[in-house]
Amino acid sequence: MNDKIDFSRIDCTKEPPLEEPARQYYYMAKCRRHVRKLEQKLGRRPLFFTQTFGCQMNARDSEKLAGILECIGYAEASKEEDADFVIYNTCTVRENANQRVYGRLGQLNRMKKKKNHLLVALCGCMMQEPHVVEKLKQSYRFVDLIFGTHNLYRFAELLACRLESGRTIIDIWKDTDKIVEEIPSDRKFPFKSGVNIMFGCNNFCSYCIVPYVRGRERSRNPEDILREIRALVQDGVVEVMLLGQNVNSYGKTLKEPMSFAKLLTEIERIEGLRRIRFMTSHPKDLSDELIDVMSRSTKICRHLHLPLQSGSTRILEKMNRRYTKEQYLELVEKIRRAMPDLSLTTDIIVGFPGETEEDFQDTLEVIKKVRYDSAFTFQYSRRTGTPAASMEGQIPPEIVKDRFDRLLSAVQSISNEVCGRDTKTIQEVLVESVNDHDPSLLTGRMGNNLLVHFPGDASCIGTLVNVKLEECKGFYYLGTQV
Ligand code: 5AD
Ligand code: SF4
Repeated sequence: MNDKIDFSRIDCTKEPPLEEPARQYYYMAKCRRHVRKLEQKLGRRPLFFTQTFGCQMNARDSEKLAGILECIGYAEASKEEDADFVIYNTCTVRENANQRVYGRLGQLNRMKKKKNHLLVALCGCMMQEPHVVEKLKQSYRFVDLIFGTHNLYRFAELLACRLESGRTIIDIWKDTDKIVEEIPSDRKFPFKSGVNIMFGCNNFCSYCIVPYVRGRERSRNPEDILREIRALVQDGVVEVMLLGQNVNSYGKTLKEPMSFAKLLTEIERIEGLRRIRFMTSHPKDLSDELIDVMSRSTKICRHLHLPLQSGSTRILEKMNRRYTKEQYLELVEKIRRAMPDLSLTTDIIVGFPGETEEDFQDTLEVIKKVRYDSAFTFQYSRRTGTPAASMEGQIPPEIVKDRFDRLLSAVQSISNEVCGRDTKTIQEVLVESVNDHDPSLLTGRMGNNLLVHFPGDASCIGTLVNVKLEECKGFYYLGTQV
């Protein structure tokens, strides 16, 4: 995608075009001139480093930033210390994500003192919070560029503005209804890619800051999604991960509404595409149509991430999740009836305001009934501006920690038992890399998202191979290629 833009045909002496993405291509052409000058000064290609915090959406956004930076003449650095441009793409879903960013900024300040041409940019969810930007303005004045989640596509324009004015640029939008297509991106893996199908969230779970920092739900047009996936497949991609905060409500706000299940059916038809994944599913919107499409599909992976959050109906109501414990369990039963081999994973929060020991026992009961393959467990984190932050009954940290430890050990012992169920079977695996610890082994991923390590040759990377699972080691298998 990156080499589609012909920068030699862009006249930077003219006024910038108003329409997108042409406007951004114009600013990329402008940035290229500055980067070329820097290259001459350094006597080498300038390097960038992106650090992504948080979820897969952010990871995908970072690929877009990298794509733009490569278009304007930067190359990727392997270490932060080597970089001439550092970008942190931040997360704010829990407070500890914020703290990590502030910690790293201290280090960057020291780096900038030694390397004065170093540029530092911050973007992502944390920047959408006014108190964060205020703190950055006061105490982290060395940051060159700050932007948010809604104007990421304007990165080149903001950077050109920084390079031309020499001033700090801060540009945060409250919300947007716009989706800009055809912004370059650089994939981390040549053989698999995330694909945004929607942005934002309308659910307003009472603990969650995402609807405030990512804005209202917007679905991409199906034709744009299909065109992107076809181009990815042409470029060697065999697996796509469809991304959205709540993929089950895909298409509801389109001019011509379309269900997520219908979108999946269309994507499945793309020749050469071998695997389809998606995340995240909200239980309240998971339709029978989706279960039907999944169970007939040969490409949709047998894995569903279905966040539970809490097993207590009372707490679920206070969380504004709009399902009860019983409805969740019935849904799981229905899904398992249709796809007995499906792997189920989840997210669980402990210590939500007002959670009693009895509520917590309900959560334990659900995880014992469902027997998840794995679960992401979180301690409730109070996010300013969300309804839960001002609820009575905030739970003392030592109680939260105690419940968290008990939950984690229950989740782990179940997943140890569940994950071994495919031992001695043959599974199709997408080979992803040479094993980090032992170069004679390859690492691949099964449809259910578990990793398998097996002896093999690096030329298999990016292909699907059959592997016999010899031994389960808890969260991964050892196997042999067949
Ligand atoms: N505190 C703890 N966990 C949270 N999550 C979202 N908001 C919070 C919060 N305030 C968790 C939810 C969600 C996952 C991405 O992060 O479990 O599914
Ligand atoms: Fe947050 Fe709920 Fe939206 Fe997920 S569905 S992003 S938990 S508000």
